[in-house]
Amino acid sequence: MRRTPRRPAKAPLLRPKKQPARLLARLERLLAAFAAASFLICLGGASAFPAWRTVFSLVLFVLGALLLLETKRLKEDLRVRQLGAVSAMALAMEARDPYTQGHCLRVRHLTRRILERLGMPPRDRASAETAALLHDLGKIGVPDAILYKDGPLTPEERSRLMLHVDIGVEILAPVAEMEDVSLLVRHHHERFDGSGYPDGTRGEDIPLGSRVIAVADAIDAMRTTRPYRPAMPWEDVIRELRAACGT
Ligand SMILES: [Fe+2]
Repeated sequence: MRRTPRRPAKAPLLRPKKQPARLLARLERLLAAFAAASFLICLGGASAFPAWRTVFSLVLFVLGALLLLETKRLKEDLRVRQLGAVSAMALAMEARDPYTQGHCLRVRHLTRRILERLGMPPRDRASAETAALLHDLGKIGVPDAILYKDGPLTPEERSRLMLHVDIGVEILAPVAEMEDVSLLVRHHHERFDGSGYPDGTRGEDIPLGSRVIAVADAIDAMRTTRPYRPAMPWEDVIRELRAACGT
């Protein structure tokens, strides 16, 4: 009888109740409201209040604005550190296999080039580029015996490998700033005709970033030498992509 592979247990330590990013976002909103209120009081009270009250409101406004800028800096710093930590995990994972070394970076580069050609502005590309770097992060939870197996996978092994998208989402879950990235990672194995996984989402219901990552992933796989075949020339890669168009 075929057994359904067990999902890895969720790590409770990775799900703190109060995430620093959420606390900083709340603090940022409070400070923005405080600075705006101080500014309005300062403007409206310039003639109605005594001068010392106007100066006091102005000082409060400047203080609020400075704290707001500092909170924004801390938020960005936290986001970069969190991204650095998960990127290090992804790069360390793929470094174990000489055939996939550099794959994540190349997929990110290809994703960026494709999105540039599609005319997507840099601000909108950021999530897709980060997701491209982290798309196979979940493979860290797949046994080496499956990841590096020489022969074809059994149906059970294939099901176990397919769980890497869910594992990737689990790893990214504690990073509040990565919700968009997590969504793109989850859908990077969907297919346009609905035959992909994990949800069998089809067509344009699949996020654009995930579709581009899937194409970049396929291009890099075909362009890389594997134990069982040499790297494919560009002409063959383009022929394969055209043949698979719409699937
Ligand atoms: Fe994958």
